[in-house]
Amino acid sequence: MNNGDSRALVVAIDTSTDMLACALARLAGGDAARGRVELLAAGDHMCRRHANEELVNTLDGVLAQAGVSMDEVDAVLVGRGPGSFTGVRIGISTAKGLARGANIPLHGVSTLDATAWTAWDAGVRGKLGVAADAMRGEVYPALYELDEQGPHRLFERERVVKAAVAVAEWAELSYAGELQLTGDGLVRYGKQFDEAGLMARALDRELWWPSGEGLALAYAQDHDVATVMAGGDPALVLPIYTRLSDAEENERKRLGLAESAHVDTTGVADELAGRHLQLRPMGAADAEAASALEQACFEGTGHEPWTPSMFLDELGESVAAPRSWWIAHDDGKLIGIAGGMVIDKDVQILDVAVDGTYRRRGIARKLLAHVSYDAQMLGCETASLEVEADNAAAIALYEALGFTAAGTRRGYYGAGRDALVMTAELPLVLPVDAASPEPTAAALRAWPLAEPARTDAERAEIERRQPVLAIESSCDETAVAIIDAEGNLLANQVSTQIDFHARFGGVVPEIASRKHVEVIVGVVDAALEEAAASFGLETGALAPRELAAVGVTQGPGLVGALVVGVAFAKGFAYAAQRPLICVNHLEGHLYANLLTTPDLKPPFIFTLVSGGHTMLVHVRAWGDYEVLGETLDDAVGEAFDKVAKALGLGYPGGPIISRLAETGNPHAIEFPRALNRKGDYRFSLSGLKTAVMLYIEQEEKAGRPLHLPDLAASFEAAVFDVQYKKAKNALRQTGAKEYCIGGGVAANPHLREMMIRKLTRQGIRVTVPPQNACTDNAAMIAVVAREKFQRGEFSDFSIDADPNMTL
Ligand code: KG4
Ligand code: ZN
Repeated sequence: MNNGDSRALVVAIDTSTDMLACALARLAGGDAARGRVELLAAGDHMCRRHANEELVNTLDGVLAQAGVSMDEVDAVLVGRGPGSFTGVRIGISTAKGLARGANIPLHGVSTLDATAWTAWDAGVRGKLGVAADAMRGEVYPALYELDEQGPHRLFERERVVKAAVAVAEWAELSYAGELQLTGDGLVRYGKQFDEAGLMARALDRELWWPSGEGLALAYAQDHDVATVMAGGDPALVLPIYTRLSDAEENERKRLGLAESAHVDTTGVADELAGRHLQLRPMGAADAEAASALEQACFEGTGHEPWTPSMFLDELGESVAAPRSWWIAHDDGKLIGIAGGMVIDKDVQILDVAVDGTYRRRGIARKLLAHVSYDAQMLGCETASLEVEADNAAAIALYEALGFTAAGTRRGYYGAGRDALVMTAELPLVLPVDAASPEPTAAALRAWPLAEPARTDAERAEIERRQPVLAIESSCDETAVAIIDAEGNLLANQVSTQIDFHARFGGVVPEIASRKHVEVIVGVVDAALEEAAASFGLETGALAPRELAAVGVTQGPGLVGALVVGVAFAKGFAYAAQRPLICVNHLEGHLYANLLTTPDLKPPFIFTLVSGGHTMLVHVRAWGDYEVLGETLDDAVGEAFDKVAKALGLGYPGGPIISRLAETGNPHAIEFPRALNRKGDYRFSLSGLKTAVMLYIEQEEKAGRPLHLPDLAASFEAAVFDVQYKKAKNALRQTGAKEYCIGGGVAANPHLREMMIRKLTRQGIRVTVPPQNACTDNAAMIAVVAREKFQRGEFSDFSIDADPNMTL
């Protein structure tokens, strides 16, 4: 910041709409917002669906125009939407990357406020309605009163409604006759507003989108130079969401009706006892068990246990305030519950209870994480709860989550039993824990971070080792790894979202994208800390500038998930002034083999078996791939997942089925092997899947109990037989003497063991990646990034995610 903290240079970006808003402004002291903001340069332009390609280069141009380098920027402001989901994510992810890479504050601003300020700055005064496009026939409506000071909100919280509803509401207003209209929703729904006589006072079309300057003004409305430099941890900035993902919405509608999966229907109690802890939202079928758990947990305390009908009321359609209730179950046995109620941006935690024999496993923390995540998605900013004042264990748990005491309620739990009222800011403090599949968020900390003090020797050592950081976000794991020039892994962090998807029986793309945005800074932080520890550095996490390059998975994968990693990596690399390296996820699965066999040399045959791909590949040289055959329908991992789902065994199916198969007989059931002709390297799994379904149906009809281990082992055998035969034929045909395997299914011990045993006998050297580098991870991405770094293969900042990339 410039001389004595009176001025700050801020970058303002917003890609929530088709406008790519990007400005550089100087924030200074002054009475009103307008006096505090001086625009230095702007690159605002319409940019439909190309924000990820253009944002960083636009910023670069804006800075150049003002003769300023990213080094001199003091803070970043970003539009949090509401707006296009992907657009908001691109802006926020890039901004998080910029702020983390430059170690400067990041602050979020409502895009609707920015649009109102854009109008104000053009001289508009009086009543203003912003109708921002929410797609699918909906808008985000927002009413403002614009006086000489600026726009003032006439609404409490961003929301989404059908365009027709907004039209009707606004037409009814007492001041409808003076209401001026703006917002990009007018492009699509202008006709509807016009029919209600509202378009006569629409602003000029060029004002319908937020400007970078408008964003800076909106920030300056209630912030000044001091606050722009205070706090601003990029981990804590989240998009404004006005609705849950479709999957969650549907589920909420079902809640109260849905039967919970139970041992009686799945029959998996014995096989999976103790190994199958999962979380899901509470359903009506859980009410009895939840009440019983309450009775047991709160016996002898002042807490009045909830009755089953109280739970049913909570889950019913008629509750006044939105609720979120979660349960933890072990094979259908309910072992924990937590619930909260949303009132005025605060989630009031109503209940937390965990079965005594399952304590100290972080279950309460996980449950609260889910409830508070839902609450955040419903617009909450804080959480509050009451706890018995002498319950030290519970108080300690809440304190660890970021709750602090806010007061006491005398006699709340009966005579002489006081309640301590505790409150916390959302998100809760949830440390990144690589070993535990739970939602994560960065801990509250002082931001910006102190620059690490290194000795000359330490600096030289870091430089010599050339640490390359790599990010993977193609599906449901947010992963970050750091590797050195010699191929040593310095850090390997994964934050998995399995809990969030398990309840839907598969990955829900919208939830995956949201979780990536939420945790990416935390996972990068954890990797930078782990790398510092690997170096033996005691003076703080590796700084972005101490990295040699930044790699990221470009594709293939879920587009909404990929863009988060790509946008973050671009912002991060740009701010740290380090080269950017794009990695093909499939190549990552292949290169994972170098972690176990550094001298693996083409030509060789490679089997890729993951949740999205099934391929047999002749690797003629590194980078020269001949795909011999692919699947015509389902991928192998997908078949595992579908079979497990049909059996009610949960998600993901691969690990569950492979555990079941341990004790099963692979010859018990004869399942079909498809496309078994020699020389045919194509795969087909849908026939096998259907055969398994038919078998289950037929056994159930006949009233015979399923023998799950036999079923699992026979299914595996059918899949793996085909994999083996085709790999063997490909080895013969090409004369290759080496074989390796990759992808999530390569974690399967039976597949690994079989390939090693059978092919080694034929004089083939077989490599399998470390088991934890088979399912999606960033270590494998880092291996590829390191190779590309050494070859100087860098990417331009205009690259975008490519969901359809192939080998
Ligand atoms: O490579 P990956 O993590 O993600 C994709 O790139 O698709 O693969 C995930 C897939 C899932 O379908 C999962 O069920 C499967 O890998 N999987 C397994 C095992 N562990 C994970 N399949 C069979 N046996 C396993 N032990
Ligand atoms: Zn994968």
